[in-house]
Amino acid sequence: MTTSIAIDGPAGAGKSTIAKMLAEKMNFTYLDSGAMYRAVTLCALNKDIDLNNIEKLSELVKNLEIDVEYKNNEFKIYADNNEITNKIRSDKVDKNVSTIAQIKIIRDELVEKQREIARQKNIVMDGRDIGTRVLPNAEYKFYITATVHERAVRRYQDIINRGENNKDFQEVKDEIERRDKIDSNRKYSPLKKAEDAIEIDTTNLNKKEVLTKILHIIKKGE
Ligand code: C5P
Repeated sequence: MTTSIAIDGPAGAGKSTIAKMLAEKMNFTYLDSGAMYRAVTLCALNKDIDLNNIEKLSELVKNLEIDVEYKNNEFKIYADNNEITNKIRSDKVDKNVSTIAQIKIIRDELVEKQREIARQKNIVMDGRDIGTRVLPNAEYKFYITATVHERAVRRYQDIINRGENNKDFQEVKDEIERRDKIDSNRKYSPLKKAEDAIEIDTTNLNKKEVLTKILHIIKKGE
């Protein structure tokens, strides 16, 4: 039996940073489920597939080999053996990923892959539907939030730190709000706090404080 920790929440809440720190502390593997939706989106865009063409997208996701790797605290993702870890963070993928993630057949395929990975190793998995759908029996479930303003500030800072000074703050904030709206209102597995998830508002907390909170909760449950 493996142990799973689910971390869900809206865009830019810091899920992946916290999930990686937690995975390191617990000596678990880490899966960024959003990266899988991004990988399908990138491949669809590269192949010029019309994002309304469900049949073509379904064929794409069924034939695409997505591999993930988590080593030395670094998460990597591959599509048909090509590493695409950085490419999936492009503006174009950002703009289209939530559209792709609404499609049932794509979700069904990716959820199956995510469950398969969780069966093999102790895992921290982050996303939007991990606690509600992918791993409803996860031992621990967290729902990480922050105000939209704070999430936009953090995203904007990330962009500046990467030296990609190509967007202004308002654009970053609008993009986060747009994605949250689609993710929360879609028909299949919308972004939602699982009933048994513990919500942590990180607006006024730094990464270390969030991690300490989570570790405290996990220790109490042991
Ligand atoms: O986590 P990240 O922001 O990279 O996710 C990108 C997008 O992938 C989300 O905005 C959402 O549309 C989709 N996603 C999802 N279910 C997940 C993870 C991500 O629908 N479990």
